[in-house]
Amino acid sequence: TVLTSRNLSGIAEYIRAGKARSVTVMVGAGISTSAGIPDFRSPDTGLYANLARLELPYAEAVFDIDYFRSKPEPFYTLAQELYPGRYRPTVTHSFIRLLHDKGLLLKLFTQNIDCLEREAGVPGSKIVEAHGSFARQSCIECKTAYSSDEIRQHIDARTIPRCHDCSGLVKPEIVFFGEALPSAFFENRHLPEEADLTIVMGTSLTVQPFASLPQLAQQGKPRILINKEAVGGLGSRPDDVLLLGDCDAGVRKLAEACGWGEELEALWAA
Ligand code: OAD
Repeated sequence: TVLTSRNLSGIAEYIRAGKARSVTVMVGAGISTSAGIPDFRSPDTGLYANLARLELPYAEAVFDIDYFRSKPEPFYTLAQELYPGRYRPTVTHSFIRLLHDKGLLLKLFTQNIDCLEREAGVPGSKIVEAHGSFARQSCIECKTAYSSDEIRQHIDARTIPRCHDCSGLVKPEIVFFGEALPSAFFENRHLPEEADLTIVMGTSLTVQPFASLPQLAQQGKPRILINKEAVGGLGSRPDDVLLLGDCDAGVRKLAEACGWGEELEALWAA
């Protein structure tokens, strides 16, 4: 094993010794729950547990492209709540920014569409938005781009936007079930193998192909999971470390152990 101890201090020591020079970070909705954005699968509080009012055949249908094509209303009912802009990044987002500031961040792979990573100051060039974002929208049939102002008006008015060219349905370019991931995901998929540390936070690792990213980390390079529950087989390798619990608390402990505690708080408060 490469870690002196298979716990938080082992990871911190590895980082302090300068052995983590390229870090990949893989995140999901759990890193934004403390900002006030629900995740998907937590019992009771998750989005999928609270969709009864939409009368869906199954919860994930709200993000299913075939279902959307036949019935776009449920997605547009939710869209107002999902739209980014009303939330502040969490200390976990600031921790990722700190990794970047220290020159250690190779790439951040996010499943989130809330854009809080950018807002925390992680540059766009370091982020792979694997499930797309609300930054652009287009026709699902002819792919013609649609303006942000116009979609905003439809969402506020709770009406369904349609393509000016072919009258197909317009949808924000977030990835639905049944749709391909953005090419940036595939172009950067080799990077986890080049990393000397992998950090996984706030994801249930249930949605493929994202869920396979942590397995691409080289054997013999440490991986750390900071999450409320154990997921995705992390813990199965000798240099895996599980930090189970709240991710804000977890990154604070890790930063503290690395000697970055004050810097992290200052960055978050800024
Ligand atoms: P999930 O809701 O599936 O998982 C969130 C994970 O974060 C769970 O393991 C929670 O226990 C954990 N969690 C929640 N709050 C936390 C906190 N404060 N601290 C630590 N852990 C916490 O969300 P994702 O894994 O992001 O895709 O879901 C993946 C994809 O499924 C989403 O991108 C979305 C969804 O359907 C699409 O819509 C295409």
